Amino acid sequence: METKQLGTTEQDLALAGELLRQGQLVAFPTETVYGLGADALNETAVAQIYAAKGRPSDNPLIVHVAEKADIAPLVQEIPEKAKKLFDRFFPGPLTVILPKSDKIGKVVSGGLDTVAVRMPENPVAHRLLQLAGVPVAAPSANTSGLPSPTRAKYVQEDMNGKIAAIVDGGDCAYGVESTVITLATPTPTLLRPGAVTKEMLEAEIGPIAVAPAVLEKMADGETAASPGMKYKHYAPKAQVTILRGDFAKYKEFIKQHTEPGVWALCFDGEGAQLGVPFIEYGKNHDGVTQAHHLFTALRDLDKHGAQVVYARCPEQDGVSMAVYNRLIRAAAFRVVEL
Ligand code: TXA
Ligand code: MG
Repeated sequence: METKQLGTTEQDLALAGELLRQGQLVAFPTETVYGLGADALNETAVAQIYAAKGRPSDNPLIVHVAEKADIAPLVQEIPEKAKKLFDRFFPGPLTVILPKSDKIGKVVSGGLDTVAVRMPENPVAHRLLQLAGVPVAAPSANTSGLPSPTRAKYVQEDMNGKIAAIVDGGDCAYGVESTVITLATPTPTLLRPGAVTKEMLEAEIGPIAVAPAVLEKMADGETAASPGMKYKHYAPKAQVTILRGDFAKYKEFIKQHTEPGVWALCFDGEGAQLGVPFIEYGKNHDGVTQAHHLFTALRDLDKHGAQVVYARCPEQDGVSMAVYNRLIRAAAFRVVEL
């Protein structure tokens, strides 16, 4: 299949919307990462998403809407806490899980009785959703297991020839996927950290739990609260290890590991002091800039043929929690204390 490369003109977005209505797959930008969209109410279309990504069929998809009014038909009801979150954070980089209505089929929900809903704030995504006129199921537009795409070029690398069209809306503002919270459990629970932080959510709805798999490897045999947690994620070809400790100790460690194929994944301004090839992925102590650069850095390490990567360790609160959550998965949970 020839994949149409579209821009963000009204005409291009109208065509993209028409393709979605016809049951085709269209990749589009959001403020978090690029999504791979299909009409969420067309199960045949949604099934193609799993095929294009190589995604396990039990891993449910997020349903994207243009307006808050589009949410009610997808869920059983909108409880008070959900209303508070929608009022404060929609549109924006947050996904909320609620018990699903009958409109949502098994393919979208991965067989669960819940649905994840999100209203993106990126203007291109918003206009496309309006023009499509249907709710759009969309996972990140990467091949399953690779880093999520933060620019159209990365979507092309993974999806050209497999989908009807890619809308190029430039770089994604945040660079990590949306925060995912479930309200379908007795205590609201954070399933995936993102730019809307735990602290911000708690300010609206009170205490929330954090699913253990957010910051640690799941124990063998444990059931994932979110199916996406159990799959290998964001993994570059290189073997990544996170080194937890200050820069002086990190530098000392790298000085003793300068073999060919070793790369440093460090913070801005640090690389030149290390004596090995490096990629910098944002400012120290600044989760927002780290989130913006992390997935590009992981893809670039592969392009350079890095074999062994030693990464500086992000913090674990605020937006840094999202960066840490993605990086420990890229590192297959290898974290070394310095
Ligand atoms: O920022 C984002 O959320 C991007 C953009 C395109 O919107 N989408 C995205 O989708 O990251 P995806 O499919 O790559 O990640 C969705 C995550 C998965 O880990 C999935 O298991 C989880 O959300 N999820 C979806 N529906 C769920 C449900 N009903 N219950 C529990 N987890 C769910
Ligand atoms: Mg994904």
